[in-house]
This record gives sequence, C-alpha cells and structure tokens, in this order.
Amino acid sequence: MLKIAPSLLSADFANLEREIKQLHSLKVDMIHLDMMDGNFVPNITFGPDQIKDLRKTTDLFFDVHMMIQNPDQFIPKIVQAGANGITIHQEATTHLHRSIQLVKDQGVKVGVALNPATSIDSLKYVLDDIDMILLMTVNPGFGGQKFIKVIVEKIKETKKMIGNRSIDLQVDGGINEITAKECIQAGANILVAGSYIFNGEKEKNIRKLKEIQF
Ligand code: DX5
Ligand code: ZN
Repeated sequence: MLKIAPSLLSADFANLEREIKQLHSLKVDMIHLDMMDGNFVPNITFGPDQIKDLRKTTDLFFDVHMMIQNPDQFIPKIVQAGANGITIHQEATTHLHRSIQLVKDQGVKVGVALNPATSIDSLKYVLDDIDMILLMTVNPGFGGQKFIKVIVEKIKETKKMIGNRSIDLQVDGGINEITAKECIQAGANILVAGSYIFNGEKEKNIRKLKEIQF
C-alpha cells in the first residue's frame, strides 16, 4: 500500500502544531521527522526534546530519520520522546547490526537509510532484521534538492533483494508527482516529501501523490 510521509523540514517552524493538525486532517500516513547533527550532514534541526513536544499534538506515526553520527546514544531518548519508527544511516554507524538491535530492543520499527552513492550490498546481512529501507534520492541535509535519477535503478535492485519479505521501501528527496511515479513503478511504497507538499496547496499536493497510479 502506498503511504505518504510529509517531511516537517519544509513546514513553518513557527506553527508546527497547526501544520501537524492540518496534515492529520489531510489523512497522511505518518510524519517524517529529520534529525540532523551538523556533523553527519551539514545542517542542524532538532532533537528529543522537540520531538517530545510535537508528540503532544498528534497520535500520527512518527517516522524519525536520524541523520546523526553515532546514532546509538540517542536511540533510547528518541523512543522515549515518542518515535514510532527510527531510521539510521548505514554510513553513520560502525556497527550497523548492533544499532539495528538497539532500535528493536526499544520496541519500535527500524529502518536503514542509504545515501545515494552507498551500495545496497551492505543490507544483505540485516534484511531479516529490518522493517524498512530508506533510499535517499538526494544527498541528505536539505530540503528542496533535485532528485537523483540514477537511484530509480537502485530502487529496482533493492525491491528485488527484498523479495517476499515484508519490508517497506521508502524514498526521500526531490519527490514530486513526476519523480514519485518513477519511484513507485520501480518498487517504492513510502514517499517522503517536504518542499513539494509544503510549497503551495498542501491538500492538492498530497492528493496528487495519493492518486498516482502504477
Ligand atoms: C533531506 C531530508 C528530507 C527532506 C526532503 O535530507 O531527509 O526528508 O525534507 O525534502 P524535499 O522533499 O524538499 O526534497
Ligand atoms: Zn528525511
């Protein structure tokens, strides 16, 4: 089933409660929260305290995308703050298997994210441990970047690798109604979109993503 995950990164940070309540009324499937540390990626966003406050505004699934170096130290804090799913970058942890188990021990869904230039081979030995794979379709750090087209091929290869396992395949970066269609046709089923949804009429933009046929 196709799921829409608006990224709060492009929302109005002076009015996050209002933005989240509107997304709820527009029946999105989850809220994508981008944690950045100014180290793994060249930008800084928010941490556990802010997620805890946002948690008070909705019961929507919180899909936390951790773009931070050495995520292990923050995993329990993010779960306590209200995350329902945590995605860690393969490139940001030395011991991927351990980090995955740490998330699982906290009782939330676990995803692994790969930067555009990272091979999917590193997923081979953790496939039976994860709920989601996030393929970055831009280099992480900022909203509003251009979709990297070669990743469509990577989505197809990843879909094949997943086989009949129940692993969600999420794409993030440069998603609009055109690139979303290419990703869905290649095998993706969760669309993260920031600037496309928030720049303009949210209702119309979310509807367009939901209506994509494949
Ligand atoms: C980028 C973040 C994305 C970002 C996507 O590093 O992971 O979630 O918000 O923004 P758009 O959809 O504008 O490319
Ligand atoms: Zn993201």
